[in-house]
Amino acid sequence: MENQKLENYLKKKLPTHSFNDVCTYLFQNPGKLFRSHFIEKLASDLELDKDILPLCAFVEVHHTYTLIHDDLPAMDDDDFRRGIKSTHIQYDEASAILAGDALLNASYAFLADISDSKDSQNLLRLSSWCCGAKGLISGQYFDLKEHRKSFEEILRIHELKTSRLFQFCSLACFYLSHDTQLLAKDFMRLGALIGLIFQILDDYQDRDEPGAEYNNLFSIDHARSKSLLISLNSRFQALTQKYHLENTFNFIEGYSKSQIDQI
Ligand code: IPE
Ligand code: IPE
Ligand code: MG
Ligand code: MG
Ligand code: MG
Repeated sequence: MENQKLENYLKKKLPTHSFNDVCTYLFQNPGKLFRSHFIEKLASDLELDKDILPLCAFVEVHHTYTLIHDDLPAMDDDDFRRGIKSTHIQYDEASAILAGDALLNASYAFLADISDSKDSQNLLRLSSWCCGAKGLISGQYFDLKEHRKSFEEILRIHELKTSRLFQFCSLACFYLSHDTQLLAKDFMRLGALIGLIFQILDDYQDRDEPGAEYNNLFSIDHARSKSLLISLNSRFQALTQKYHLENTFNFIEGYSKSQIDQI
């Protein structure tokens, strides 16, 4: 999805006064837009004839809210995001908390824009499961607990804080396809695998950061992390072959292969 399209769509859900600048600040550099590109690739593989803009907008705006909150002093305390100052540094903490709240709220309004009301209802329910207290938010909660975590505990956290949003993407495409040949559990797995590959690669980049000994797979077992990545990647490949998801495969492989080879 182009960032311009996203910004125009988002603007309609935000006020025109100065708070708008705080909410849209991080979209100056929208990041990789990785999740919405994933939706686009999967939607083309499944030949979806629906407008996927609301899905893409949901996922990018929701993701950006999680990043604004993730960087706050009470959470990861990061001063930079996407190559610019974090929202709470550029403005102030209270404004950043509220901007996160505003984006979280706006993201749900996108799903309400989906034309078929039954689809819209299902996706709202799905997003609440993926991103709510039983999903992403629990992942963030456990991630912040101070004690040293085991390899398995970290993987469970990765599944919650990162895979759940990817599972939203894959299951949303699954629902919108209304194709009875597809198995929901395979689309759950697809999102889970991509999320894990994505977060384990992110862990590799972050392995020397302060605090990495608490929640980074590479600090616990470098060799095991690498072999896990390879095995997740081959399970991902088998799943995309099963459903002929060529665009999805090429997109993820294009991102992950060279990184995995370098580890
Ligand atoms: C960062 O996500 C948070 C993680 C789950 C690792 P991205 O790496 O997709 O961040 P942007 O959107 O490209 O900045
Ligand atoms: C972020 O994970 C996950 C969410 C925001 C849900 P990280 O804390 O590892 O992401 P970065 O490293 O700050 O981008
Ligand atoms: Mg974090
Ligand atoms: Mg962080
Ligand atoms: Mg990280």
